[in-house]
Amino acid sequence: MLTAVLLFGTAGCAPATPPSPATPDSECDLLRAELAKANAELEKLKAQLESARAEITTAKAASLEDLLRHRRSVRDYADAPLTRDEVMKLLWAAQGITRAWGGRTAPSAGALYPLELYVAVGNVVDLSPGVYKYHPRENKLTLVKEGDVRTALALASLGQRSVADGAIDIVIAAVYERTMVKYGARGERYVHIEVGHAAQNICLQAVALGLGLVTIGAFQDSAVAKIIGMSPDEAPLYVIPVGRLE
Ligand SMILES: Cc1cc2nc3c(=O)[nH]c(=O)nc-3n(C[C@H](O)[C@H](O)[C@H](O)COP(=O)(O)O)c2cc1C
Repeated sequence: MLTAVLLFGTAGCAPATPPSPATPDSECDLLRAELAKANAELEKLKAQLESARAEITTAKAASLEDLLRHRRSVRDYADAPLTRDEVMKLLWAAQGITRAWGGRTAPSAGALYPLELYVAVGNVVDLSPGVYKYHPRENKLTLVKEGDVRTALALASLGQRSVADGAIDIVIAAVYERTMVKYGARGERYVHIEVGHAAQNICLQAVALGLGLVTIGAFQDSAVAKIIGMSPDEAPLYVIPVGRLE
């Protein structure tokens, strides 16, 4: 059925009302629905192909030295979507769990892990637009709020276009108290050092995946926190738009 719809489209169906005399209306609706489904499937396959191409390109040159050499801030992106798998790989690179006791990809003062990761999804084939929170222990996402917030985030980031244009925006927040309860005022410094570790991991993973990103520090904290739907003890430290290379 799907192949037939792809090959023949909905020929014989009137574009809208009134109903076509050639094909009964209900059959046309069915064909249109099948066509929409087939198109969505095609988009997904295209994105997977893009992703595989990008990985092949970088796999050829994936030594750490090469990743470091190729890392660059990228502020313009292709329109093509990311895949959910790519999003998860970026988040895992930042804060993924790598030891049974809870050790993560990035170091953390006193292993107190003050960072929280959010992702504002706009253009990902198998993730609907919305804000999601990353849970390192389960390596999974939970929905915080539905809807595309990239434009709002861009406005809160002094109108920086890259924030609206990225397929996603990763937002790194910190709960300072988690670290400062042990280290006092010096804990603030530790949290800022840690966000750099996590962001650099994302940078290198993006190069490995053949994606582009820029790490953004210029934004209004309270506006970003509100748009993302952060809890009151979380403060945003970085906004990182990521997209496919042009
Ligand atoms: C803490 C920090 C904040 C930054 N904030 C922004 C920003 O708000 N907007 C932006 O376009 N780039 C931002 N950048 C990226 C720098 O402009 C970029 O790293 C620099 O120009 C060097 O280029 P490169 O990353 O390609 O080596 C930031 C980088 C850092 C480390």
